[in-house]
Amino acid sequence: MVWTMGDSDGEDAVDTPALPVEVVVYILSFLHASDRKEASLVCRSWYSASQDPRFQRNITFRFPASASSLELIRGLGRKPRCSLIISQLDGFSISRSLLLEVGLCLGPKLESLALPGSSITEASLLALLPRLSSLRRLDLRGLDSLFMSGAFLSREEHRQQVRSALCGLEELDLSDLRYLSDLTFNRLTGCTPRLRRLSLAGCHIAFEFDPYRGCPVGAVEDSSALLSLRNLRRLLMEQKSTLVALDLSRTSITPESLRTVAQVQGLFLEELILHGCKELTNYSVEVLVKHQPSLLKLDISGCTELTSRSVEAIARGLRSLTHLSLSQDWRITEKGLSDLLLLPSLRSLDLSECLHINGTEMVKGLKGSDAARRQLETLNLRSCTYIRDPAVFFLAQLLGDTLCELDLTSCSNVTDLSVCAVATYLQKLVVLRLGWCKEVTDWGLLGMVQRAKCEPDEETGDKGPRFTRTFGNMGFFKPPRLPFEERPKLVTPNDLEQLRQQAGASLLALSRLQELDLSACSKLTDSSITQVMRFPDLHHLSLSMLPEITDDSLVSTARHCRSLTSLVLSHCPGISDRGVAHAAPYLPRLQHLYLSCCNNITDRSLLLLVQHCKRLRTLDISRCNNISVAAVDFLQTQLPFLENLHYKFIGGADLSLSL
Ligand SMILES: *[C@@H]1O[C@H](CO)[C@@H](O)[C@H](O)[C@H]1NC(C)=O
Ligand SMILES: *[C@@H]1O[C@H](CO)[C@@H](O)[C@H](O)[C@H]1NC(C)=O
Ligand SMILES: *[C@@H]1O[C@H](CO)[C@@H](O)[C@H](O)[C@H]1NC(C)=O
Ligand SMILES: *[C@@H]1O[C@H](CO)[C@@H](O)[C@H](O)[C@H]1NC(C)=O
Ligand SMILES: *[C@@H]1O[C@H](CO)[C@@H](O)[C@H](O)[C@H]1NC(C)=O
Ligand SMILES: *[C@@H]1O[C@H](CO)[C@@H](O)[C@H](O)[C@H]1NC(C)=O
Repeated sequence: MVWTMGDSDGEDAVDTPALPVEVVVYILSFLHASDRKEASLVCRSWYSASQDPRFQRNITFRFPASASSLELIRGLGRKPRCSLIISQLDGFSISRSLLLEVGLCLGPKLESLALPGSSITEASLLALLPRLSSLRRLDLRGLDSLFMSGAFLSREEHRQQVRSALCGLEELDLSDLRYLSDLTFNRLTGCTPRLRRLSLAGCHIAFEFDPYRGCPVGAVEDSSALLSLRNLRRLLMEQKSTLVALDLSRTSITPESLRTVAQVQGLFLEELILHGCKELTNYSVEVLVKHQPSLLKLDISGCTELTSRSVEAIARGLRSLTHLSLSQDWRITEKGLSDLLLLPSLRSLDLSECLHINGTEMVKGLKGSDAARRQLETLNLRSCTYIRDPAVFFLAQLLGDTLCELDLTSCSNVTDLSVCAVATYLQKLVVLRLGWCKEVTDWGLLGMVQRAKCEPDEETGDKGPRFTRTFGNMGFFKPPRLPFEERPKLVTPNDLEQLRQQAGASLLALSRLQELDLSACSKLTDSSITQVMRFPDLHHLSLSMLPEITDDSLVSTARHCRSLTSLVLSHCPGISDRGVAHAAPYLPRLQHLYLSCCNNITDRSLLLLVQHCKRLRTLDISRCNNISVAAVDFLQTQLPFLENLHYKFIGGADLSLSL
């Protein structure tokens, strides 16, 4: 949960009945975090209730370094615990005093610290670290300024101070550090003797050959220029009793080096991330599986050499696996997926961009396992263009009890039948992504799918296509002939009446949805959007690149999805000021709004946003021809939380040149 600072300013309502605070706390405990945040703004007593320690356990505050953040940090001193993400720190005095203030006000209360996009000096960090005696998580990702000189923690007295504070540190993120060397790595990890998680993603690790010395790495002593495998192995041996998670993504780790890591005696990894390690082979995975059989999470996405042999090895050897990513491993085929789906605890499977997958073996595996053991909660099939309706139908039917998240983005052969199957069987879905499924039409969203031709229907006779909710008699397995090739056929009031009587297979059935992506499903029109966008918990919605939708869709969506925090309407030319005027009052929680290339949006919309959507953090109005620079300037002065404003090419001009 991430709260932006400065959000909470409670005000006493005039006549709130005085409920005891315990009762309010109890009521608030039933709310989602974001609803609780809204509730905390109602009146002072609700605000105090929302500050109950039980709601405060894990709050991260994120803000850029600036003079005004000093005050905020002092305010945080009242919290029992907190986590900070401070960006854009530099070597100047504001940043230095900010870090000093963090140490003074929050010292032993700080649980987690991240400093993304910063460049700070060793001295400012050393003024802070010794005070952070409860720190569990330290993220120094990309902080090259700290490691460039090679002198970080070179003095023993500094190491002692840091060690006595950080001896409880559990997570250390050192990814993307170009200048990490054996010496600096050893000095730092020498202060953190009980790491559970270590990330070295994107670091230049010398796995086999030291280019500076012209000899194999590890033959000689610690290097001041490179981090070597030998040295990493030493750390793994020293901290093997606590270390369970390792991230070596985007390194050039070789099969032999992975074997060295996997074979460390007494190391029992639960989580290993090897995204984009392109040198790895089937053999590497086989060795890994043999030596680290207790892995729970494995990410070997973007390891492009891997084939189905790796999948088979995983299915055989990692019996406790819960999360697996094979994304972008484009050589992987159906082979082995059946056994993989039989793994008893697999909860999350990412097969996105595995271009050969068509689902046959997955369905086979699921059918072979008994229902109680099907655990899959998350399935990503993005860009698997061989996935067709029958596969989606069976997957939906077999995973109905558990699946919460389904990504079918760019599955170009998926049609309305799949949408109906999803709505019929996957009623626990929280996240559904159907972007770029260009065959999907209003009929799919409305749950009214043409009965396939292989199931002749006497009643219809010659009267043309008949639309009904078809899952009763599954005429499913031949793709239907879509009667509306070019522009979608208009849905008549009669059709809608029918829908109301048989709601269930329409998208309405997915009442738990929090995220829905329908971008570039370009056949969709107001006919379906105005009928099915009724999701009280929906936070993220994308309707971008829907040329047919108009203000009616926007207004109806806003009225019925009032939890929206992120709304994407880019490239929807039918959206105009009128829609924004009627929708904005329903969207006070909106934080991210994307309207690029919406040419019927003018300055008037910006004024409406200023008036109604005061929480906006992101606004994209680039390429909106009818918006003026003056209006943008005004907007910037009025929206206190606005962080990202994209306004290139507004007013039809190239502002990146003229400003
Ligand atoms: C705190 O939240 C972060 C994500 O914001 C999550 O990764 C972490 O597991 C949470 N910690 C606890 C103790 O709930
Ligand atoms: C991986 O295994 C397949 C057999 O499934 C084999 O054809 C291929 O050459 C192996 N690839 C590598 C890089 O070892
Ligand atoms: C799926 O792909 C396999 C080959 O990988 C092929 O044998 C099978 O017929 C395909 N199934 C469907 C339904 O396309
Ligand atoms: C999937 O659709 C694409 C175009 O959308 C087509 O070229 C391809 O042949 C289709 N694949 C299958 C297996 O039908
Ligand atoms: C939106 O603008 C386009 C021109 O960009 C125009 O053709 C269209 O009629 C407008 N639509 C509405 C609803 O205003
Ligand atoms: C946008 O600007 C063009 C001219 O630049 C104008 O013709 C059009 O009517 C404007 N559209 C709206 C919605 O104001």
